[in-house]
Amino acid sequence: MSDTMVSEDNAPLRKLFRPVIKALRTAYIQGTTVVKLMPSERAIQLYYKYRKKSYDLQWSMDPGYRKGLKNLVDLVIEQGDMVLDVGCGTGSATIVAADKAKEVVGIDLSPDMIELAIEKVNKKRIENTCLFATSVEGYCPELPFDKVISSFMIPHVKPHFRPAIYSCMFNFLKPGGTVGLFGSRGEVCDVYETRKEIEENLTRAGFTNIELHDVYDIYRIAVARKPL
Ligand SMILES: C[S@@+](CC[C@H](N)C(=O)[O-])C[C@H]1O[C@@H](n2cnc3c(N)ncnc32)[C@H](O)[C@@H]1O
Repeated sequence: MSDTMVSEDNAPLRKLFRPVIKALRTAYIQGTTVVKLMPSERAIQLYYKYRKKSYDLQWSMDPGYRKGLKNLVDLVIEQGDMVLDVGCGTGSATIVAADKAKEVVGIDLSPDMIELAIEKVNKKRIENTCLFATSVEGYCPELPFDKVISSFMIPHVKPHFRPAIYSCMFNFLKPGGTVGLFGSRGEVCDVYETRKEIEENLTRAGFTNIELHDVYDIYRIAVARKPL
């Protein structure tokens, strides 16, 4: 699919500015290597305690991020789905998914990010979401989900632990369910997975039918299935 998901509106203007936009996006995403400085869950929670206010503003500066989230939802979620958003943060993906799904549960390690997500959901009067402060590893859903989505959480997970996190996502799904992951690319910034790494990690967790879609210069969407 690559960048074919980008609309053709303003195409000449976009072509002119494309190298600049790409350079800005690349520089920005390379800033996310700051996650390397967070050795524990407590450190992640502390970081987001102070980061939550600027978080949405920062991401709102790149339309590619918002479009990528929309692409993720379009690719993965169908009407009537029960969806889990893992590492939901301030609820950006949760809110987009809630527009289409029957219900969306969002979980995040940071109580501060969850607090902001709840504020946003209440402000928008969205009624089909539940948000919980918990780690992926500590979460035990009552029922399995049709779909699991996760956006930009994986850089917080040490590389050797990523297959275990994907195993959690696998276990959260019904047989035949789909996982959809949105993030950047290891080829652009080393806190993300390369194509080879994400394929290997998802395969180790039991997923099949893996599709990777590179979109908007630096972003990548991965979609995979839990076998029936
Ligand atoms: C970069 S933010 C992404 C937030 C949101 N998904 C988005 O796209 O805006 C990463 C989030 O992952 C959460 N996180 C990191 N490790 C986690 C874990 N083990 N379990 C649950 N959430 C985690 C962090 O607290 C943070 O809110």
